[in-house]
Amino acid sequence: MNHLAIIGGTGLSQLSDLKIIKSEQIATPYGAPSADFNIGELNGKQVIFLARHGNPHAIAPHKINYCANIWGLKQLGVENIIAVAAVGGITPEMVPAHITIPDQIIDYSYGRKHTFFEDEGEPVTHIDFSYPYSQTLRSKLIHAAKQAGIPISPIGTYGCTQGPRLETAAEIKRMEQDGCDLVGMTGMPEAVLARELGINYVAVAVIANWAAGKAEGEITMAEIEQNLHKGMANAAELLKIFVAMISES
Ligand code: HPA
Repeated sequence: MNHLAIIGGTGLSQLSDLKIIKSEQIATPYGAPSADFNIGELNGKQVIFLARHGNPHAIAPHKINYCANIWGLKQLGVENIIAVAAVGGITPEMVPAHITIPDQIIDYSYGRKHTFFEDEGEPVTHIDFSYPYSQTLRSKLIHAAKQAGIPISPIGTYGCTQGPRLETAAEIKRMEQDGCDLVGMTGMPEAVLARELGINYVAVAVIANWAAGKAEGEITMAEIEQNLHKGMANAAELLKIFVAMISES
């Protein structure tokens, strides 16, 4: 499989097993990407790594230049993106530190630049987004998780909120009624921009906490960090197995 990129989110600003060979700074028509693109080797395969929130972690979800990030990856010839993201768990299966490979999205974010197809002279383009994630990449990740013995949920609906604040309990109740299993702040417009540029895109959602109102008490950063520490270690292991597997296919 050619040109694989990993976008790391909260709790995964660096991929410790990635042997970095070079870092590329890319200028785009949309401005600067979140960070330099680290080009290296993971388990013997070429992988490009980008820290979504910058390195160090400093760019809030609504301030991320999603267009520049996806455009930059396209410039580097990326054909497949694995997007790792921290989320809150809404439905009972989505327990903290668990991993889900979501299959659907509901977008509640607003005010973010969410399309490449709006420049002067561009024809109006309505891309298909019925199934927002690459089914091929989803199947491969699910298979890799089985091989690695890492428990995952193979489906789930990801609701993307604006942040940076967490949601109210009522908002989460409404999202659950809408059909959301997970809540995060960065899944959109990242997924749709990848689709617009013809890049296969899949998400590895790592559950950091029970979403608002789903557990007693406040959601604390300490709780989030503790769960992410465990969940991201599993996600990093899953990525290693995935990369080894695809190099055989
Ligand atoms: N809500 C939104 N985004 C998140 C959460 C949450 O509870 N946890 C981690 N990212």
